[in-house]
Parts: sequence; structure tokens; C-alpha cells
Amino acid sequence: MDLQYVSYMSNQANILNEKDIEDLLFQVREKNKRLTITGLLLLIQGKFIQYIEGPAKEIDKVYKKIKNDPRHNELLLLDKGELEERQFTDWSMAYQKVKDADIEKLVGYKDLKLDELFFVDKDERSAHPVLKILYNFTKNLS
Ligand SMILES: Cc1cc2nc3c(=O)[nH]c(=O)nc-3n(C[C@H](O)[C@H](O)[C@H](O)COP(=O)(O)O)c2cc1C
Repeated sequence: MDLQYVSYMSNQANILNEKDIEDLLFQVREKNKRLTITGLLLLIQGKFIQYIEGPAKEIDKVYKKIKNDPRHNELLLLDKGELEERQFTDWSMAYQKVKDADIEKLVGYKDLKLDELFFVDKDERSAHPVLKILYNFTKNLS
């Protein structure tokens, strides 16, 4: 099976409350289980950062759906590629709200200046500290 991953950042369209997030995760987890997609969603300094992995065909279809979802906007691709094996086996979609203190512990400062990511090229995006944070959470959860 061809495995692929995608990670992206987006702005919440409206500030989602706990119930909205629960509803979103319920919907996402059901569908991901069906499609054998696994991954992680972070809420970090007001942005969503998501990592999804699974069969290439499904990732392609779901990423298209996600891009058109009105619950968020200004979606920006951070990284994508092929995988030999999954980072996650158990999580149809893990979720973490990342605190500033966690960010500081991992990268040495608090303000990630995530809005600046919209203005840099692809190589700089894939080297941004927010990906270090994302992949650190990925490792700790799997
Ligand atoms: C931040 C965010 C993350 C999402 N992640 C996923 C996901 O991992 N898998 C998924 O199937 N849908 C995800 N969705 C929901 C899709 O945008 C879409 O609503 C869903 O796939 C339902 O599609 P369908 O009922 O038209 O098949 C996400 C939506 C948002 C706003």
C-alpha cells in the first residue's frame, strides 16, 4: 500500500469552543477509522496544525475536503511526502491544545510568529519550528 502524509496550517474561521472541537473530532475520527487515516491535530496560537497519514488515494481525497471546509480558512501546506511506515498506529486523530509553555520548552521562545509562514517559500516553511513541535508531539503520542 502507498502511504502518504500531509501537514498544513490553517486559521480557525471562528473561535471554536470545546463543544465545536468535540463535534469536529467525533466526525473526523469516525471517517478516518473508515478510511484507515491516522494523525494529529494541534491547536496552537489560534491556528490549526494538522498531520494526516494513510493510503495515498484517501489522503488526496480527504485533503481536498479539508481544504474546502468552512470551519477554517487560509490553509497553507507545510509538508507532504511518502512514508515507509506510519508514525501513528492507534490514533484516528489525536488532539492537543499546545500551551505557550510547551512551545518555549521545545524551541526556546514563545511567539512562533505563525502568520509569517504565509510569506515564506516552501523550503523555509518545511524548516519552521512549528514542524519541530508537530513532529515532537507525533513521536510522543505514537
Ligand atoms: C481542522 C479540520 C481538520 C479536519 N480533519 C479531517 C480528517 O482528518 N479527516 C476527515 O475525513 N475530515 C477532516 N475534516 C473534515 C472535512 O473537512 C470534512 O468535513 C469531512 O471529511 C466530511 O466529509 P463528507 O461528509 O463530505 O465525506 C477536518 C476539518 C477541519 C476543519
